[in-house]
Amino acid sequence: MINQRIGILTSGGDCPGLNAVIRGAAKTCWGLGYDCIGFLKGYEGLYDPVQYITLTPQNTTGILNQGGTILGSTNKGRFAATVGVSDRVEIKPELLRGVSNTVEQLGLEGLICIGGDGSLAIAQQFHEFGIPVVGVPKTIDNDLAATDYTFGFDTAVSIATEAIDRLHTTAESHNRVMVVEVMGRHTGWIAVMSGIAGGADVILIPEQPMTVEACCEELRSRHGRGKDFSIVVVSEGYELTYASGESQQVTQEAALDQFGHVRLGGVGEVLAREIESRTGFETRVTVLGHVQRGGTPTARDRVLATRYGLEAADLVAEGRFGMMAALHGDAIVAVPLADAVAALKTVPPEWYEVARAFFG
Ligand code: F6P
Repeated sequence: MINQRIGILTSGGDCPGLNAVIRGAAKTCWGLGYDCIGFLKGYEGLYDPVQYITLTPQNTTGILNQGGTILGSTNKGRFAATVGVSDRVEIKPELLRGVSNTVEQLGLEGLICIGGDGSLAIAQQFHEFGIPVVGVPKTIDNDLAATDYTFGFDTAVSIATEAIDRLHTTAESHNRVMVVEVMGRHTGWIAVMSGIAGGADVILIPEQPMTVEACCEELRSRHGRGKDFSIVVVSEGYELTYASGESQQVTQEAALDQFGHVRLGGVGEVLAREIESRTGFETRVTVLGHVQRGGTPTARDRVLATRYGLEAADLVAEGRFGMMAALHGDAIVAVPLADAVAALKTVPPEWYEVARAFFG
């Protein structure tokens, strides 16, 4: 007799802790009497051609501390959808029917989708179509609503903080301004947290459009007090804002893709040039990029990801579809997927005030 099965997949940009979720979910599945299969390359593995592996104690051992994902992931495959109800991209009905057939033919009790806003927006559309799905909140950006923290964020903040610490010593030796560009897309969580932890002198984030002039003034006033080096942390999604009211979003590609996404990156370079020309302080830029997403997860992320994995498998076994594992305070709870993808979770002003207390 064939055991009932639960499917799992990792979608979107990778992030430290994905393997810890897979391990946790698989272990719970086996304990509940289910087999667990892992679809390859994110949602792409669900349909045409269906690609999966059976997860076993052998192929899930030793993965807790490994970055990346043993299942692979796809960022913008055929299923890509945007977050938010008003601007969402509807998944083609034939794709939804194809996934539904896969679930039926493989005898799946349910599907665990590990993803960020875009990927969970797809999961929500699966749910609306009647496909049994639950979600796990993944992203280094920490921008998902309905959960206090996504896994992967703590690791990214730790990596960025270490980079800031290292840049401090070289900045001080050469009396330079160091601009550090961190990821985060349209929210400044990584910038604010790593900037506070690393003692940044100015932090620029999308939610708080401090002007370039004000940034330079903070640096001048700091240097006026005898400090001859500074650290500026800028989030990739910060729009260069000027006292004139003009603003400029720096992107790597001029056009939006078919899903309305921009590829951010490059604001640090432009900002560094502005700072140097306006203040006369020698300025260098470091773009941390995908380093923030790679490598081993922190202990905190391993624990959070493991707890999310256990909860997700339980949700499937209990038939609580359309829900997502979430962290509220110290407790793992279930929240509707629809709530998680309804809006981006931005940095609240009070967090920025903590950072601002140390500017200049
Ligand atoms: O969402 C995670 C993230 O790393 C963002 O911080 C960043 O803007 C984006 O993904 C980069 O995407 P890609 O890996 O496609 O370049």
